[in-house]
Amino acid sequence: MTRSFLSIRAVRKTFGAFVAVHDVTIDVPKGEFLTFLGPSGSGKSTTLYAIAGFQDPSSGDVLLEDRSLLSVPSHKRNIGMVFQRYTLFPHLSVAENVAFPLRVRRRPDAEVKRKVADMLALVRLENFADRHPGALSGGQQQRVALARALAYDPPILLMDEPLSALDKKLRQEIQAEIRRIHRETGVTILYVTHDQEEALHLSDRIALFREGRIEQIGTGEDLYLRPASEFVAGFIGNSNFLAAEHLETAGGAATIRLADGSIVKGVKTTQAFDRGQKARLMVRPEAFRLTPGPASAELAVEFIDAAFFGDRRRVVMRTAGGEELDVRPTSDAAEPHGPDSGRRIFFDPAVAFLFPA
Ligand SMILES: Nc1ncnc2c1ncn2[C@@H]1O[C@H](COP(=O)(O)OP(=O)(O)OP(=O)(O)O)[C@@H](O)[C@H]1O
Ligand SMILES: [Mg+2]
Repeated sequence: MTRSFLSIRAVRKTFGAFVAVHDVTIDVPKGEFLTFLGPSGSGKSTTLYAIAGFQDPSSGDVLLEDRSLLSVPSHKRNIGMVFQRYTLFPHLSVAENVAFPLRVRRRPDAEVKRKVADMLALVRLENFADRHPGALSGGQQQRVALARALAYDPPILLMDEPLSALDKKLRQEIQAEIRRIHRETGVTILYVTHDQEEALHLSDRIALFREGRIEQIGTGEDLYLRPASEFVAGFIGNSNFLAAEHLETAGGAATIRLADGSIVKGVKTTQAFDRGQKARLMVRPEAFRLTPGPASAELAVEFIDAAFFGDRRRVVMRTAGGEELDVRPTSDAAEPHGPDSGRRIFFDPAVAFLFPA
């Protein structure tokens, strides 16, 4: 019986005494777009390479439809791959590059021709079939790499920072292409990036890596709205952290004291705190309001600066305790006039989080 399509079971990778990946376990359903997100050196590529077969794990297993891949050599794993650096064959035309994996598999000419045409249409490069990679832009080269990786219908596509060499606009354009291709082909994609916006844009789920372990895995919404730790809260989206002291918790709602002495009740938390324990309160920039709501907590702040970005406004404020706040009030908020003190801003404690300090 199939437990899951792709199963990464307690994969561990050591280099000498250094543990690069600590017993990572993930079950990937067929057709999922799963992204490995995390800081540099957190083990994303190493985990991907264990799946690709470039590096054997020190222990653990990788199963595809319940069969271990470990004894299968990399080139027989039937896994498509796209990497950060363009890896096209410079002496072959675009069409020949895309045809290459099919030629290796000795597919008949007619099939190769049809498949190359389909793939070039998929990545919208029909008119570039006869060019050589040297005469293509970076983004076009990555689209050829994508077409080549998908040409033999691999059930799994691995992508390691495929867009990191491109400028922002091109990156966003190809992100949209990758989403469309995922939708149209149903291929299971494991994608590596350290760009949280890219991860949020593309993924069904995100595995957030930290020092060789998965800190949290879930949808973008899970990680953003229900971060399991301060690390997750700080990595996904923007956050403000305020020093706090925990007083008591009842039914998942904590009462805390902030640095200015004010008491805030009803803060969401999933962790156990002692009375008097030092903690950090996280409030998202957009969770602040300039006018009080029914259950608002309030902070005395000093206005520092404001900038207008068209679709939003960014206001910098400072608490009485000297903590700078990134405040991005939504449409209820026009004003802040010039610098002044004695202002108050408001937030709903139920959308703030408490973490151990
Ligand atoms: N062949 C190797 N020998 C020794 N250490 C290695 C080797 N490959 C990776 N490492 C180490 O393992 C850790 C994880 O590396 P990995 O390449 O998986 O990180 P990453 O999350 O992909 O980072 P980046 O975002 O910078 O690509 C790093 O500390 C790295 O230095
Ligand atoms: Mg890497």
